[in-house]
Amino acid sequence: MKRPRRPRVSGRSAAWFLTGLAAGRWPGRRAHGEPDTVPASSQIVNHVSEAIISADQSNTIVMANPAAAALFGTSVERMVGSPLGHYIEGPTQAAGATTEPVDFFRPGSGRAGRRATDYAVTGVRGDGERFPIEGSISRANAGAPFYTVVMRDVSERRRVQEKLSRSNDQLRQLSAALQTIREEERTHIARELHDDLGQLLASLRMDLTLLQQADGTPGDSLRLMRGMEDNLLTAITSLRRIATNLRPRALDEGGLYFALQGLRDDFVERYAIPTTLLADEAELRLDDAASTAIFRIVQEALTNIARHAEATRVMMNLFRLNSDLLITIRDDGRGIRPEDMEKAESLGLIGMRERVWAMKGEITIGADEPQGTRVDIVLPLHDHLV
Ligand SMILES: Nc1ncnc2c1ncn2[C@@H]1O[C@H](COP(=O)(O)OP(=O)(O)O)[C@@H](O)[C@H]1O
Ligand SMILES: [Mg+2]
Repeated sequence: MKRPRRPRVSGRSAAWFLTGLAAGRWPGRRAHGEPDTVPASSQIVNHVSEAIISADQSNTIVMANPAAAALFGTSVERMVGSPLGHYIEGPTQAAGATTEPVDFFRPGSGRAGRRATDYAVTGVRGDGERFPIEGSISRANAGAPFYTVVMRDVSERRRVQEKLSRSNDQLRQLSAALQTIREEERTHIARELHDDLGQLLASLRMDLTLLQQADGTPGDSLRLMRGMEDNLLTAITSLRRIATNLRPRALDEGGLYFALQGLRDDFVERYAIPTTLLADEAELRLDDAASTAIFRIVQEALTNIARHAEATRVMMNLFRLNSDLLITIRDDGRGIRPEDMEKAESLGLIGMRERVWAMKGEITIGADEPQGTRVDIVLPLHDHLV
């Protein structure tokens, strides 16, 4: 191993020092005569942040540094003289077989890191808590062989890794959900176009054919044409509705406040459920991203109320508190159940949550008092003011 000129205070060089010292290899003078600065070995060992333990061939700890004592939740005094197995889970071995420290870091323990001497083992803290450790072991002969282990607690890294893999899973699920949502939306639009517009246009065409063939009285033709006019009006309304669903024009023309009013008016007209919208136009002048997100959230909440709630009243409040927008949507219907929110196919709620989270906001959905459903949303707006 290459000698460091000036020992870096890292676990690796400290281990090297320990093993070196034990083996009687003292860093000597460099070739050009400049002396190495060699702090006393104990100083290095006591000050490195890595935990270091040395054990003799019978697995008795002969040296532990303060970092090791801290890692295992005990004191240096307690560690020295104790069996290594008190602190590191030992190998499972046939009765009577003897182990050496190096066995603690061999089969059964996973390899970790790139170096062949790095292993993942399980540590045991003073209070019995077990935790993952990565460490490297090196052997030296100072008369009898002895072993030096440098260790790191990798619990935090494990936790972060697990969290990362959980959030990866969620992302995968979400992307699948988004695909489904998009497909459902297309199906929905296709159905509306076909059912509403398609049928109206077909019947207009039939009326037109009849009109062309008409040899009856002018009264008949007039009646046909009135019918066609009605159908055309309905077609225009349908087209507007479908287009508005795709992209609410009010959002571009009047802004969020008027778009929400339009949503409320349509809802009242279609479902005859009294609905109040409490909001301030000036507080809702937001950029397009925020306006669209809020519009879609409110739209989904209203759709849900129409489809599931059996409500007789709806209240929507939007108001600013400092740089947050607080949105509350309440209905007095049958109330959402916890299991409704767990449904994997609850794409509407997933979509709502995603829009809120994408804006770094918070959303809670639950049963309201005394009855009904309540959606509360807090959206930070500092990036969205215009
Ligand atoms: N306002 C509400 N009142 C009662 N139940 C609701 C309400 N909103 C949602 N739910 C329940 O939550 C479920 C999930 O809603 P959502 O994710 O929008 O899916 P979907 O509307 O397509 O069924 C609904 O199926 C319904 O059972
Ligand atoms: Mg829904």
